[in-house]
Parts: sequence; structure tokens; C-alpha cells
Amino acid sequence: MKTQLRSSRVVIIGTGAVGATTAYTLLLRERVSELVLIDANKDKALGEALDMNHGLPFTGGVKLWAGDYSDCADADVIVIAAGASQRPGETRIDLLKRNAGIFDTIIQNIVKYNDHGIILVATNPVDILSYVSLKKSGFPSNRVIGSGTLLDSARFRYLIGQNKGINPRSIHAHIVGEHGDSEVPLWSLANVAGIDLEFSDEDREEIFNSTKNAAYEIINAKGATSYAIALALDRIIVSILQNEGSVLNVSTLLQDYNGVSDVYLGVPSIVDRTGVREVLDLKLTGQELEKFQASANKLKSEISKLEL
Ligand SMILES: NC(=O)c1ccc[n+]([C@@H]2O[C@H](COP(=O)([O-])OP(=O)(O)OC[C@H]3O[C@@H](n4cnc5c(N)ncnc54)[C@H](O)[C@@H]3O)[C@@H](O)[C@H]2O)c1
Repeated sequence: MKTQLRSSRVVIIGTGAVGATTAYTLLLRERVSELVLIDANKDKALGEALDMNHGLPFTGGVKLWAGDYSDCADADVIVIAAGASQRPGETRIDLLKRNAGIFDTIIQNIVKYNDHGIILVATNPVDILSYVSLKKSGFPSNRVIGSGTLLDSARFRYLIGQNKGINPRSIHAHIVGEHGDSEVPLWSLANVAGIDLEFSDEDREEIFNSTKNAAYEIINAKGATSYAIALALDRIIVSILQNEGSVLNVSTLLQDYNGVSDVYLGVPSIVDRTGVREVLDLKLTGQELEKFQASANKLKSEISKLEL
């Protein structure tokens, strides 16, 4: 799974379960030439960097170190995975108060050194914090991206694949909207090789509930989610650095989109070296449209309580 890239630097801010696993994924797959780890807990970043560096004789030539914000100067992509994570039973929105505050300092520190890179937000609630990052950075919206419903869509595809006995890579199916409880499954678009997939009402309910509640289940079982989100972030980073133009369900600023404006939500978007190059014009109708707009309204109401 090795992909050669031109000289590239990725900075990861927050080296907990998500940040460290993302760094390790990028390292194993030799995605970047330079990888910088930053954490408010400097020892944590230092420990992760040392541990990963000791694996370099078994991998490739990535230069990896625990750094500080001045290292953002040459960064192509800056991943933010810093802040509080869900405790058992907590929703992602419950994290807003705790995480919005730290974004002030983090974004200020990034823009002090970098005016050209792409900010990729993973911290929850990811859609709202991507919007906060946009407002606080002054970057154009194509260069502020949230991981959105890429992970949810992967979970959805995996579960559909299990149900149908088909490899999830061959399943086309999308979750859009909030990365959270109001997310919307687009059953009308679920297909294999362009052929619609049929499900019983019971199967639909079970697959969607398992998709939506996956994080709660994993957090109850092991305390954090890390592997699949790391692979999703890796996918976005590679699409950016390799100028792939892959269609990924990232969180992006929507304007006049299916009746929704001025909010970040996960929708299929073309991702390349410029960040989000284009949002695909999904034609939602009926219940899917209603649910998508309700998801937007929920997030907009939370955003209106913030000082931006
Ligand atoms: N977007 C997604 O799909 C997705 C998936 C999983 C987790 N998450 C979110 O990612 C975030 C991180 O989760 P985690 O499990 O890695 O948490 P964690 O507690 O393991 O790690 C968080 C890290 O952030 C650091 N940190 C805190 N404040 C900081 C600051 N101001 N500057 C720099 N570093 C700081 C902490 O020291 C810690 O190392 C959470 O908000 C979680 O909900 C998002």
C-alpha cells in the first residue's frame, strides 16, 4: 500500500488515540516525507515520536519529530485531533463547550505561521469545529475541511457489505449531514455496480442504527475510536497531497445547497491539492431532504450560541 509522494509535510495537533494512530498510519504507508507531532502535553508528543522513530528501520524514510507551532510554516496539511473525546454516553455535541475554547488558541497558532496549507479537522463535534476553524483562520473554505461523514459512510458500507456478503469496497453508499446523531443515510443511492440494493425495513433500521451508534459502542468497549478514523484521515490527506480528485464525504461549507446555507456538513466532495475543489450537487428529495435540512438546522442552532 505504498504511495510515493513529492516532498510533503503533515502536522498533527493532538496526539491522543486519533492523532497518534493517524501518524502511525501515515508512517506505515509512507505517505509523507515529514510528519510533525504537536500536543499540549509535550511529553505525549515526544513519547509518540520516539516510539514511531524506533520503527523507522522497519519502514521507510519519513522524518518524524515532536515539534511546535513554528513547524506549521512549511505544512501542506495540518490535522487537528486535539481536545476532549466522548466519554461513554456523551454525544459529540456535548463536547462543543470543552473543545470550542481550545480552537481559539490552536487556530491562532496555526495562522501565525501558515497562510497556504489545508486545515483538516477531526476533533468533535467536527462539523461545528470546522466552521469555527473557517471563521477563526480567515482561510478560504476550500482549505478548511472536516473529516465529516467519511467514517460514517465507511461504517455504512461495511455493514451493507456484511448484510449482502459483498466486499465493502464494492458498495457505493453515503451518509450525509452531521457526523453525529442527526446524520442521514441515503438509501436511494445505495448500489453495487450501478444496481440498486434492496433491503427490508428491519435491515435498514439495523444497518443505520449500527452505523450511527458505532462510536458509542466502540467507546463503551475500548474507550476510544482510532483505527478507522485514522484510515479515513489518511484517505483525505492522500487525496489532497496526490491531487487525486477523489470523491469523499468530507465536511465542507455549504451555500445554497439543498436548501442549506452557511453551515459545514458531510457531503460528497471532490478533494484535491486545492482542498475541496467542488461539492457534488446531490439532488435530495422527500424524507432524505427533510432529514438533511433538520441536521443543518440542529448544527446552525449550536453555532448561533458561539461567539465567532
Ligand atoms: N471526526 C471523527 O470521525 C472522529 C473520530 C474519532 C474521534 N474524534 C474526535 O477526535 C478528538 C480526539 O479524540 P482522541 O480519542 O484522540 O482523544 P484523546 O483524549 O486520546 O487525545 C486528545 C489529545 O489532545 C491533546 N490536547 C488537548 N488540548 C490540546 C490543545 N489545546 N493543543 C494541543 N493538544 C491538545 C491532549 O493532550 C490529548 O493528547 C475528540 O474530539 C474525538 O471526539 C473524531
